[in-house]
Amino acid sequence: MSQLPQGESRAIRRLHTVDSTNREALRWAREGASSGAVVIARAQTAGRGRRGRTWISTPGEGLWFSMLLRLRMLPEQYPLLPLAAALAAADACHAVTRTEIGIKWPNDLILRGRKIAGILVELEDDCAAIGIGINVRQQADAFPLDLQGHAGSLESLTGRPVSMEALETRLTAALDARLETLDFLDEYAARSLTIGARVQVALPDAAFAGVAEGIDGTGALLVREETGALRRVLAGDVSVRGLMGYV
Ligand code: BTN
Repeated sequence: MSQLPQGESRAIRRLHTVDSTNREALRWAREGASSGAVVIARAQTAGRGRRGRTWISTPGEGLWFSMLLRLRMLPEQYPLLPLAAALAAADACHAVTRTEIGIKWPNDLILRGRKIAGILVELEDDCAAIGIGINVRQQADAFPLDLQGHAGSLESLTGRPVSMEALETRLTAALDARLETLDFLDEYAARSLTIGARVQVALPDAAFAGVAEGIDGTGALLVREETGALRRVLAGDVSVRGLMGYV
């Protein structure tokens, strides 16, 4: 079942500038917006990233997108939402560039070793804002120095123009499809750059290394330690890095 109520067309709010499309989607929810409503802004003045970081959202250079969901699923399934969004964004980026896009668990999109998109899901009452930021047009030197070498954009990495409209259309459709059944973990695993890799897991108070063996039904990463123990790693409280660098 699509996130759109049956028979309703999708509400889309297109803004020139907003603080954050996620915040706007949740404000709109309080005013009565339906599930499946989409907010797209040309620029964000306070784009939000994971773990309290800022998401740089320069005007017209990327797709700054949020979809509002009125949640009709079990709370145990909420951690699947960022993974579904990552897979949908990878589907959409692949469709418009015909280039392989990998996912670094839980939800960073990677093209040629660079992060080209990120996902932030924010919950409020019975609603979720599924926030997706895709870097489309930035040149390599447009990113702050500490991100250069790590961040990239679809156009700078493929050398080809990307239609923002086509990306938006593909993303909306892919998100509808991935959220419909939440039955996507095999396809997620096929795009995962983390599964099968040696990883370093940083917990708030400790760190350990191991091999990422898979993802369980709740979206948690399963990491085999050198001792043979299998540890379940939740997305909210860790940073996972491959031992060979960013990915
Ligand atoms: C990350 O840190 O990787 C997540 C970045 C998520 C950015 C997107 S852009 C659209 C939406 N609105 C926000 O304020 N954040 C998300």
